[in-house]
Amino acid sequence: ERTQVAIIGAGPAGLLLGRMLELAGVDAVILEHRSQSYVEGRIRAGMLEHRTMRLLEELGLDERMRREAAVHHGLELRFDRQRYRIPMAELTGGCTAVMYSQQEIVRDAIAARLASGLPLEFGVDDVRLDGVDTDAPKVRYRAADGSEQVLACDFIAGCDGFHGVSRRTIPADVLTVYEHDYPFAWLGVLADVQPSTFELIYACHERGFALHSMRSSEVSRFYLQVPPDEDLAGWSDDRIWAELRLRLGTDDGWTLAEGTISTKSITAMRSFVVEPMQYGRLFLAGDAAHIVPPTAAKGLNLAAADVRLLADALCTWFESGDRALLDGYSDDALRGVWRAQQFSRSMTSLLHHSPANPMEWRLQHAELKHVCTSEAAMKSFCENYVGLPAAGRI
Ligand code: FAD
Ligand code: DHB
Repeated sequence: ERTQVAIIGAGPAGLLLGRMLELAGVDAVILEHRSQSYVEGRIRAGMLEHRTMRLLEELGLDERMRREAAVHHGLELRFDRQRYRIPMAELTGGCTAVMYSQQEIVRDAIAARLASGLPLEFGVDDVRLDGVDTDAPKVRYRAADGSEQVLACDFIAGCDGFHGVSRRTIPADVLTVYEHDYPFAWLGVLADVQPSTFELIYACHERGFALHSMRSSEVSRFYLQVPPDEDLAGWSDDRIWAELRLRLGTDDGWTLAEGTISTKSITAMRSFVVEPMQYGRLFLAGDAAHIVPPTAAKGLNLAAADVRLLADALCTWFESGDRALLDGYSDDALRGVWRAQQFSRSMTSLLHHSPANPMEWRLQHAELKHVCTSEAAMKSFCENYVGLPAAGRI
């Protein structure tokens, strides 16, 4: 078997890359370890930056999103039981945030690929990348039917997430790893209840950070800061609602509507970047190369930004043999990655509470008040939050 690009992983990075290559007439095979239903049911991110929404439009994957997603023109910051609206569209020349969950994007992209009759194999196992530093790389794997397969290709796109095999294929002495673990985790909750807000609420509270988000007019999404080693078993539904009420509470009579909690999970928070994002004919994209703490909702958006660059570079090479974009892929992608890392970290520090550090707590309040009162500070926050592509480019 042979293809032009072997794509490892059918998360947002792999699926969107596959779609871009399809539209450019480049052949690809996507190999995914999990089953289709597992991938489509995995609950993760929910906020799309303006440019990610535009990309989905360009790729013709926007039909359901246009019908079902809510478009947000602002967000709310809460602290000291007060609320402050940040008018992000107004301050960024009209950039909005679109609420459409990751698994819906994944579903739409899988449906489009299957409708095009293009190769997408689920349930593959034991994926090994061979000869990535030669001109004839190969992917060996065990297919879902148990047969051993060899896929010859021109390039391999490592879109297999943080725990994937692609990054580990690159010799350790070639890579520099940058890493930071935070002393917090997020307890994420999905509840069958109408959201008590139209826009996202980011709350900074002495008991810890809380976020009120949403998935639809009937489903709310919440996150609570918890200690990194927290046991989910200690979080009854009643305790979750009580904590949300406390952390989101205001003095102006706002109330939180409660409903049935359908899922709960705990996610560790880390910053991680590997450099370079390429080795020979292997190119990493998305979580395979970097992880951001979730506070600024950049993970999915960065994955989309990476594969847009990678698709351009690959298509240029296949069209003309010009490899300048491919050679520059890692540097190009890393500019946006470090910008997003910096903002994700600063938004995390701004909103979370470390009880051991009272000085920090005072500094956070000074910064929060600055962001909510200075138009320049608010504008800078918004430019980063909506992911203006110019941010950080020199
Ligand atoms: P993934 O989505 O991880 O996809 C990688 C795919 O590769 C998976 O389908 C995996 O099964 C497959 N795979 C792995 N190993 C192999 C292998 N050896 N062979 C074949 N296939 C393989 N981001 C936000 O912006 N906001 C959020 O609220 C948010 N919440 C999150 C919550 C959780 C629990 C997690 C884990 C992440 C969250 N993120 C969030 C981050 C965001 O979901 C990721 O940044 C995004 O999924 C990255 O997409 P990706 O395609 O690079 O990786
Ligand atoms: C969501 C997650 C985030 O990390 C965020 O900043 C905003 C929204 C969400 O899952 O809805």
